[in-house]
Amino acid sequence: MENLEALKERAARAAVEYVKDGYVVGLGTGSTARYVVLALGGRVKAGLKIRGVPTSRETAELAAQQGIPLIDQDNAWVIDVAIDGADQADPGLNLIKGGGGALLKEKIVAASAKQFIVMVDHTKRVPVLGGSFPLPIEVIPFGWGSTAREIEALTKSRVVLRERNGVPFRTESGNLIVDVHIDRIDQPRDLEISLNTIPGIVETGLFVNRTDVLIVGTPQGVETQHASRT
Ligand code: 5RP
Repeated sequence: MENLEALKERAARAAVEYVKDGYVVGLGTGSTARYVVLALGGRVKAGLKIRGVPTSRETAELAAQQGIPLIDQDNAWVIDVAIDGADQADPGLNLIKGGGGALLKEKIVAASAKQFIVMVDHTKRVPVLGGSFPLPIEVIPFGWGSTAREIEALTKSRVVLRERNGVPFRTESGNLIVDVHIDRIDQPRDLEISLNTIPGIVETGLFVNRTDVLIVGTPQGVETQHASRT
């Protein structure tokens, strides 16, 4: 099987083609988004004028190294295109995101972008969300155990506090992540709405009806799927 890194890079190279001179670009987080920042850095060095809105400190640092000017985080922005990776994508272009713990900023940036472009390698395309990848949910530390219990009751699934190096993982906003091991998410929109009624949940890693273009790196080449929204 072809190296997945090569497929991610190929998808990222196709994604940066959507970036035009003068654009404000939402910069995602993760290994696929990293290839986007590197490719954009190359274009900036060749004269492309863009400004970036990073979705994590990691991405901000890489973008700065690449000479991509960044917009002050405190300003209201108008983002022409946001480009990001995902952990799973279903046939309706709904996503699970948050494997890297940056889902909150990623969703804010995706929601404020005129166009949201997502890149995955072909192994992340699934018929139904869930199963092989748990759903990350960002929760407030206060009373997180009760929040987790509510999530467990709603989803009837195992909820696990994310840890890193033996201690609870903290997001850049100081919150916790719980990973919900759901077998299948047949109705992502309904689940997102229900989860958002639970106090203590800051944001879920379900990205429903947000993707405009999905770019898939496959061993046969790059496939592009556009949202069929009415
Ligand atoms: C980070 C994310 C990433 O986009 C997602 O985890 C995919 O990462 P990678 O491109 O490294 O496979 O949502 O919060």
